[in-house]
Amino acid sequence: MSKEAVADIAVIGLAVMGQNLILNMDDNGFVVCAFNRTVSKVDDFLANEAKGTKIIGAHSIEEMCKSLKRPRRVMLMVKAGSAVDSFIDMIIPHLEKGDIIIDGGNSHFPDTIRRCKDLESKGFLYVGCGVSGGEEGARYGPSLMPGGTHAAWEHVRPIFQAIAAKVDGEPCCEWVGGTGAGHYVKMVHNGIEYGDMQLISETYNLMKDGLGLNHDEIGDVFDEWNKGELDSYLIEITRDIVRYKDTDGKPLVPKIRDSAGQKGTGKWTAISALDMGVPITLIGEAVFSRCLSALKDERVRASKILDGPTAKFTGDKKEFTRQLGKALYASKIISYTQGFMLLRDAAKENDWELNYGGIALMWRGGCIIRSAFLGDIRNAYQKNPNLESLLFDDFFRKALSTSHQDWRVVVSQAVLLGITVPAISTALAFYDGYRTETLPASLVQAQRDYFGAHTYELLDKPGTYVHTNWTGKGGNVISSTYIV
Ligand code: 2AM
Repeated sequence: MSKEAVADIAVIGLAVMGQNLILNMDDNGFVVCAFNRTVSKVDDFLANEAKGTKIIGAHSIEEMCKSLKRPRRVMLMVKAGSAVDSFIDMIIPHLEKGDIIIDGGNSHFPDTIRRCKDLESKGFLYVGCGVSGGEEGARYGPSLMPGGTHAAWEHVRPIFQAIAAKVDGEPCCEWVGGTGAGHYVKMVHNGIEYGDMQLISETYNLMKDGLGLNHDEIGDVFDEWNKGELDSYLIEITRDIVRYKDTDGKPLVPKIRDSAGQKGTGKWTAISALDMGVPITLIGEAVFSRCLSALKDERVRASKILDGPTAKFTGDKKEFTRQLGKALYASKIISYTQGFMLLRDAAKENDWELNYGGIALMWRGGCIIRSAFLGDIRNAYQKNPNLESLLFDDFFRKALSTSHQDWRVVVSQAVLLGITVPAISTALAFYDGYRTETLPASLVQAQRDYFGAHTYELLDKPGTYVHTNWTGKGGNVISSTYIV
């Protein structure tokens, strides 16, 4: 155990993500000091996984802080919530102004905003860093999304960009923005991940129950898709998952109870979107689909009594799988369009200057949603950093223009077959709503004015709000506080 200032960074938290990040840093030539609440795990780690490396350990926070070069860099890889606050409180007395605390856990962004403001006011630098890629990513190259006190970036950049995943030599790690921007972007990443998984599972369902393909045939379709515009980690693992056989030689997936779990990041994304009034419908559907799936027993009862269509698919299966690939691609474009819409509004709300092309690059490798497609998003924002919507970019506009007919066929077929496709269909509903100049919201406004005197704005007199006495019986009093 060294007490001299030899370590480049300390990492607290020796669960698998923490251990793997430390080993990754060590591989890249940095000296890391490891610490953990249960101190015996430090010795276990040094004697096993970290044996033969330059990694050092500490038995107390004081010892850990003494081992660090200045400015001191302390990274927390502990359970989100009160553990982060209690460690911050314990570390602070051993730090000096200008030292840096990094939270690489799964903190909810409002907590990161609060901690960042509090520590900045005390003269410390704070970084909330989204880490994606799971255990494997942490060990060999995660996607890292750091945000917080900008002055910390020059001090964490050499380490973070060295350990991050690389795509065409570029690290999947860039500065995201102020206060909680890093954790916010990671949250949206997870929301998009929910959406991608739901979309893929809907195509699986259509192939299985709609077309009657077996699991090997479905695996072949995913394999084919993975060679083109849908090339992504999630399609790749789905191909391998559907092909996987249990010990009895039968596909494993149909044996798994169809109730999806969730840890909350998709829900947080949807809640943030609802709070800001951003129509992030696809992630919302993906979250609700997991909720519906969790009602397994109720669904089993409903399946026995509720009627649906009895029609069977009679068309060309090969052509339909081609159209399905197009519907998946189009829906994915909508999901990412919505995700970037949300980022844009969050940036306005929180005063963050987000680098959208940089975010696409960070997600391009290392993380669960990594895909070739994110390179196209990066190109779109590189061409125009102020792009209002991804759908206004020529590449994506044309992609939808050439796929929307196939998409419509898929949604109609699914509806006629009675196979649920909430994410694919909500994406199409968004696309059609977004490209509609006049929506029936005029009628909604009239209804609101009818029953609640909420007033409405006239198209030919912008800014002028009027109330109509629709029945001739109501008064002319306008509602200002009554909200239905
Ligand atoms: P432990 O090994 O002492 O349990 C992931 O759970 C990591 O977060 C572990 O390093 C764990 O430490 C740490 N952790 C979990 N809850 C904690 C808490 N309340 N206080 C401090 N560390 C905690």
